[in-house]
Amino acid sequence: MRTKLKNLLHQPQEKVIGQDYTVAGWIKTVRAQKELVFIEINDGSSFSNLQIIADKTTKNFTAVAALTTGSSIQAQGHLLASPAKGQKVELKATEIFLFGPCPPESYPLQKKGHSFEFLRTIAHLRPRTNMQGAVTRVRNALSFAIHRFFQQRDFYYIQTPIITSSDCEGAGELFRITTLDLEKPPKTKDGKIDFKEDFFGSSAFLTVSGQLNLECFALALGDVYTFGPTFRAENSNTSRHLAEFWMIEPEMVFADLDDDIETAKAFLKFILQEVLSRCPEDLAFFEKFIEKGLVERLQKVVDSPFEEISYTEALKILEKAGQKFEFPVKWGIDLQSEHERYLAEKHFQKPIVIRDYPETIKAFYMRRNADNKTVAAMDVIVPKIGEIIGGSQREDRLEVLEEKLLRQKLSREDYSWYLDLRRFGSVPHAGFGLGFERLVCFVTGVENIRDVIPFPRYPKHISF
Ligand code: 4AD
Ligand code: MG
Repeated sequence: MRTKLKNLLHQPQEKVIGQDYTVAGWIKTVRAQKELVFIEINDGSSFSNLQIIADKTTKNFTAVAALTTGSSIQAQGHLLASPAKGQKVELKATEIFLFGPCPPESYPLQKKGHSFEFLRTIAHLRPRTNMQGAVTRVRNALSFAIHRFFQQRDFYYIQTPIITSSDCEGAGELFRITTLDLEKPPKTKDGKIDFKEDFFGSSAFLTVSGQLNLECFALALGDVYTFGPTFRAENSNTSRHLAEFWMIEPEMVFADLDDDIETAKAFLKFILQEVLSRCPEDLAFFEKFIEKGLVERLQKVVDSPFEEISYTEALKILEKAGQKFEFPVKWGIDLQSEHERYLAEKHFQKPIVIRDYPETIKAFYMRRNADNKTVAAMDVIVPKIGEIIGGSQREDRLEVLEEKLLRQKLSREDYSWYLDLRRFGSVPHAGFGLGFERLVCFVTGVENIRDVIPFPRYPKHISF
């Protein structure tokens, strides 16, 4: 059995040195001298590579000397303390076996750094870069921390459907799923496409959010959460939007907007703390190559309170900013990225919670406040990214919810099952959604969301 590099590189030396091991991985660099060959391999288990040394006593020394970057090998040998700088241990190889050679003239990943744009065109090989390796380990640590946070607080993990007939956000940004023959679709009498003939007997879409389904379980079992892929057909070509992204959504019962905000803050702090303690090597890489001061920035978010302001207060700050925004500031507008960034980056210089937004700009399910103008909504805004969390207390009063559907021109029939939750044993409840990839950008300092998801989907890009 091979030993993962992590278990040799991140152990107290006295525990591992002097023993024989089999290791395997992909060659990062080879330096061949007359009598000695130095090979560095990586197997993904840690950011660091293991140095392997071969000499004349190594079987097939001549073949070993001809190995190239990118090839996959297995090596057996003896682990020694390394005399060289930069590493604590190295493997003195008795035997090296080549699994798959890698022709240097056509291997797209050369030693020199590549642009993120170029790497996106080779997303199938990009996992072998230091950058994607580090992103992957951070994503993994964050995912696990997310489950830990909710499990510790006795939330149930619910698997909400991916295929749906309802538009949770009511924004019409849905991808349609169909098995109809698009060349010759069945038509109704008035010439429209007849979706009754479609696979599900009606229109079907990819979900934009698991929230509505989650509410059904919350109103039966208490606190619940989901963590799954969501899809938005918004034609946004920005560094913060994907057509397919992962979202974490908790839903809490007997809870109001204050409880929602408290949970969101505790949640962010917990998962940041976890990644700080589990991924120091990967974060050190991001600190060195992507963003100076990253670790300190993250630690500050863990240690200091968030700022909390109302939408109305936010507007007052923006009006007094003495800065010309592209979108003029006026009560009632949806906050644009430039406004959010001014508040989080310039004014407060830390994460902020903005609450109580105008009813007219927010989704139909948010609870109307007593002022009849605003809803119990909250967004968490962080420097560089903008909105990372969006949440709200849900409208739990049947008549008000019916009226809100009507106002937003949404059909009561389509949402009748959702209204049932208010007909039968309604309770105050609240929840939020955290965009996982925006979180990963925030944690790594990586600027473009397309570089923190394994295979990004965005307008005109669906390869791999
Ligand atoms: O604010 P949103 O649209 O909220 C909801 O979907 C609610 N149903 C959540 C809930 O209350 N359960 O989306 C939540 C978060 C945003 O704050 C943002 O971080 C992320 O999802 N997000 C996106 N991330 C990447 N690409 C996109 N196109 C995104 N749209 C939203
Ligand atoms: Mg939002």
